[in-house]
Parts: sequence; structure tokens; C-alpha cells
Amino acid sequence: MLFKKSRTIQLDKDNIPKHIGIIMDGNGRWAKKRGLPRSAGHRMGAETLKKIVVYCNKIGVKCVTAYAFSTENWNRPQKEVDALMDLLYMYLQQVEEQFAGTNVILRVIGDRSRLSDKINKAIDYAEDYTKNNTGLILNVALNYGGRAEITEAAKLAANALSKGEISEADITEEYLSSLMYTKNVPELDLIIRPSGELRLSNFLLWQSAYAELWFADINWPDFSEKDMEKAIVDYQARNRRFGKV
Ligand code: FPP
Repeated sequence: MLFKKSRTIQLDKDNIPKHIGIIMDGNGRWAKKRGLPRSAGHRMGAETLKKIVVYCNKIGVKCVTAYAFSTENWNRPQKEVDALMDLLYMYLQQVEEQFAGTNVILRVIGDRSRLSDKINKAIDYAEDYTKNNTGLILNVALNYGGRAEITEAAKLAANALSKGEISEADITEEYLSSLMYTKNVPELDLIIRPSGELRLSNFLLWQSAYAELWFADINWPDFSEKDMEKAIVDYQARNRRFGKV
């Protein structure tokens, strides 16, 4: 008689990625499949983010950076931009309920100058409300672009150089890293992009130099804790050499 061996995937608790980036893609397709407006997909996507952040916090991930609105997303129809901004506003305003009892620290990364006063106030509120927490850091990338972030860092360096605060020799990779939005969080270990697209779309370009990439054919609103576990198990099976042999 043959017994099927049941293979249970086990997370290695000693090799949990410290920082995971997520491109929350496929919300529109998820909604279309159900005959719903795209905004319904984004709403469901926001719920998924909450669920995944709670799971990551539980297993010991230190930081999640989630791509919520790119510098290119302003080119979407105004109705969709407005719906996304409303959703983000609610998410930030309700930060107490969203992450009650989780100790999550919420931060926003990206260029805030193009965001409305209302959104900026909600960001200040959410960041202030969670700043003394000690759990996972959730970076919500808002009006974020990797190239814009690197350009901004170059301008800051040029400015410091022209004022004589630094010399040319001070412009090292470490120095430039200290000018990025991610200066106070661990190195990026893993980027997850669901929905079947195989590109980075201007997300964490500087930080992804040695990150592992994980793609799956699942729309973000359907992404589950099991999928996250699978991504981490795959990550743990990889041999990260950082350019060495
Ligand atoms: C990409 O899917 C997703 C976005 C541009 C927005 C992501 C935003 C959320 C998940 C919700 C807001 C986040 C927070 C933190 C409240 P898409 O619309 O391009 O999907 P498609 O490729 O299937 O059309």
C-alpha cells in the first residue's frame, strides 16, 4: 500500500526576510472579472494589505513597503485617482481600527508635495498615532517613484556639496542610501509582485539591487497569508550570494 507523504512547508524562523516590498497589482482585473468598478478592486486590495501586514508582523518581518500610488498613477482617469485618494484618506484616518492591537508603525514614503492638504493631514495623523509602536513598519509608498527618489537624493547630495558640507569623496553608496526614504529600515530582501506582470515599474529601484524577486499569477485582492508563506519559503530556498561565489 502506498502512503502519500504529506509535505508541509515550514518557515525557517531564523531566515525571515526583514524587509518585503509589495507591488499590489491586479486590483482592476480582479474587479473586472466580477463585473465591479475598479475602485471595488482597490478597496479589496486595501483589505488584503491589512491582512498581509498583520501576518507579516506575526511572523517577525520588520518592514513592509507597499506600492499604493506611483508617480505615474496621476495619469489614470480622474475618477479612479479620486477613488484611490478617498480610499487612502480613509485608511489613514482609520489607522486605529485598521491595525488595532498589532503595534504596527505606519509611515508614508514618496513626494508629498503633490498630495492634497487633506491627505497630508491624514498622513501626519496616522504617522503620529503609530510612531511609538514597536512592531512592523508599514511604509505606504504614495506618489512614489524610484527614479524620482534617486533624483531627489542626487539633488540633496549636490546641494550639500555646493555648500561645502561634504566633499566629493563623501558621496558613497552608503551616503546616497542615507538620503533615500528607506534610510531607517532594514535592507530590502524580497519584492513580491502578483498579477502575472514581470517588472518593477519604478518601485524601489535603488533598494532592489540585491533583493530577491517573487512573481505570481494571483490578483492582489486574492493574495492570502498562504501565498505570502509560499513566497517566503521560496525566498528561503534561494542562495543569496550578493555578488560573491
Ligand atoms: C495596481 O493595480 C494597484 C494600484 C495602482 C493601487 C494600489 C492601491 C491599493 C491596493 C489600495 C490603496 C492602498 C492603501 C494603503 C489604502 P491596477 O489597478 O493597475 O490593476 P490592473 O493592472 O488589474 O488594472
